[in-house]
Amino acid sequence: MILVGCLFLLIGCNNESTSNDEIDKKVDELLSRMTLEEKVGQMNQYNGFFDATGPVPAGGDAKHKYEHIKKGWVGSMLNVRGAQEVRKMQSLAVDSSRLGIPMIFGFDVIHGHKTLSPIPLAEAASWDLEAIEKSARIAAIEASAEGINWTFAPMVDISRDARWGRVMEGAGEDTYLGSRIGVARINGFQGDDLSAHNTIAACAKHFAGYGFAEAGMDYNTVDVGTVTLHNVIFPPFKAAIEEADVKTFMNSFNVINGIPATANKFLQRDILKDEWAFNGFVISDWSSGLEMVAHGYAKDLEHVAELATNGGSDMDMESYANIKHLVDLVEAGKVKEATIDDAVRRILRVKFELGLFDDPYKYCDEEREKKLIYHPDHMEAALDMAKKSMVLLKNENNLLPLTKDQKKIAVIGTLADDKDSPLGNWRMAGENNTAISVLEGLKAYGIDYKYAEGAELVTGPTAFSVELEVNTTDKSGFKEAISLAKQSEVVVMVLGEHGLHSGEGRGRANLGLPGLQQELLEAVYQVNKNIVLVLMNGRPLTITWADEHVPAIVEAWQLGTQTGHAIAQVLFGEYNPSGKLPMTFPRHVGQVPIYYNQYSSGRPGPKTEVFWPHYIDESEKPLYPFGYGLSYTQFHYSDLEVEVVGKQQIEVTVNVINIGSVTGEEVVQLYLHDKVASVVRPIKELKGFEKISLEPSQSRKVTFTLTEKELGFYNGEGQFVVEPGEFGLMVGTSSVKGLSSQFKIN
Ligand code: BGC
Repeated sequence: MILVGCLFLLIGCNNESTSNDEIDKKVDELLSRMTLEEKVGQMNQYNGFFDATGPVPAGGDAKHKYEHIKKGWVGSMLNVRGAQEVRKMQSLAVDSSRLGIPMIFGFDVIHGHKTLSPIPLAEAASWDLEAIEKSARIAAIEASAEGINWTFAPMVDISRDARWGRVMEGAGEDTYLGSRIGVARINGFQGDDLSAHNTIAACAKHFAGYGFAEAGMDYNTVDVGTVTLHNVIFPPFKAAIEEADVKTFMNSFNVINGIPATANKFLQRDILKDEWAFNGFVISDWSSGLEMVAHGYAKDLEHVAELATNGGSDMDMESYANIKHLVDLVEAGKVKEATIDDAVRRILRVKFELGLFDDPYKYCDEEREKKLIYHPDHMEAALDMAKKSMVLLKNENNLLPLTKDQKKIAVIGTLADDKDSPLGNWRMAGENNTAISVLEGLKAYGIDYKYAEGAELVTGPTAFSVELEVNTTDKSGFKEAISLAKQSEVVVMVLGEHGLHSGEGRGRANLGLPGLQQELLEAVYQVNKNIVLVLMNGRPLTITWADEHVPAIVEAWQLGTQTGHAIAQVLFGEYNPSGKLPMTFPRHVGQVPIYYNQYSSGRPGPKTEVFWPHYIDESEKPLYPFGYGLSYTQFHYSDLEVEVVGKQQIEVTVNVINIGSVTGEEVVQLYLHDKVASVVRPIKELKGFEKISLEPSQSRKVTFTLTEKELGFYNGEGQFVVEPGEFGLMVGTSSVKGLSSQFKIN
């Protein structure tokens, strides 16, 4: 206790006014007093091991972890939360260890914390950076009130493969959009002042390539060329550092181009720490160190510690490699003590920046916890975000919005009555069954409807780590659903995926509606064609039949706590949908990976005989392209003007007018095509967007400024170049519809 007091005197200060240099001095001073064991301890993270308010663990793993914390051999814990629990656990480190260095508490705060916002892919569909930042801000406020000071978010992995279960956790397929959204999320989590009690350190993950798992199967090998790596995969990570000062990175489970990411020197040392000058720290993914043995890269756990640490991974999550072997490895000369010092410096720096040395218990205020969790303002923001995340995919004959006086509304589909699925996966602190269901939302909105389940979606237990059992046989509810549909004027069908159909370890080889839902949809359609399909899902689905037959389709993803209220407001026109797809919807799973920013083949046309890029049994076109989404109003684009105002500066203006009869929001999108370059460039790439709101007949001039950042690209050597020549440009409402022009730079 006395020692701890001394430590705080030595390093105590008002963190807000602490400059980087001052922090560096404090880090060095502390480091100079640490033993090798204590240094290695900082590089060790353990999973929560017991109810921290409970008794001292009697034996086993928990006992070891407990003892290790008291010795100062644990730098961080994950999955411990609650003001009281964290305080108790923190006090073991602060009061019992020799130097009293506080631990940093990490947690997956992915889309909201207790109040859940839409899944990240859904939020990305809003293209509303302000709302997304606010959503992350609120998540940080709730998480920090529960003792957490570090989130393992945002996931900035770009993915072009809807089979991959974790697309729900990212911002979709596009690098530019993904970068902007990643930056917004980090700004939301970290705020303006990281030392405040309600901001938390963010983590850009998973570095790198995790979203390119072969065949969309989680944990699978990744093999990507330099051009894709630099132009598609890296930019959101680079932006996280340069534009948002992200404090931590997480490496990834996958092998990339033959080397596991966890020990990848090229990624973690050459690119991240040298070229990008990242001065935060890198955490491994859960046991990704140990997994290098199965990959056939490390012989044993000792080898893991050597390879991962030398490869640039600073903290080990639950592999026990560092704590068991690093001291010996340093003594044997296989890892330099300078390498350890560098890792520990990085970790301590973040702890100082958080202000943990000033007050290790600053996130452990039970009053704040009580006051802030599920705060009404958070609920309101979650509702706003949910409305903004929906995408109107089809609306034949303006079937939507429905009117409140509409007679005989049927609601069919078990997901309509589900209070859990709308919460989506990765809602770690979220409480099961706490979403407003669609039925509850409609009822609260004063809608008179009749409901029939149709068919169950999953049978058996559902949990984060349990395989789902999907109902493929029990159609006993069909009869009631069909008879209800027959007697109704309009049928709202809520179909899609269970909340745990996507997420980690949730790859799908089929992208259709799971279970009996497609059959149910077709059976209902036989008796009533007036269907509004509300989709609830965590990834793009191949709803090709529905697109051909069903008149109205709303992509509602998994919208979090406020799902039902948001859906009711969109279906009945109180909110005019404004979302745009952040990921291409394929017509058939065989088209995957399908994405808008492809390269041109050598045979873009004419379509002669069979010798052009196509399938003989399916269209080569997507079902819904990237950037696509309708509104209850229409927008007209005109007067596209392009002016070269400087050597590498282009001004683009376009006029957008609302020609419909209701107010609406539009995402004006700008795409570029570098026509001839030393490395072939995609046929189009998003390079700017702006979300605007227009009343009926109102118009607005939207201006974009393009600079070398937008005009350049990374060549095969990973160098950023801007090459003179002609560019094609398109400004419009999606990646396939807009006004085109061109310009030249010298
Ligand atoms: C995931 C990470 C996550 C970690 C801790 C891993 O399985 O890949 O994204 O942050 O677990 O929960």
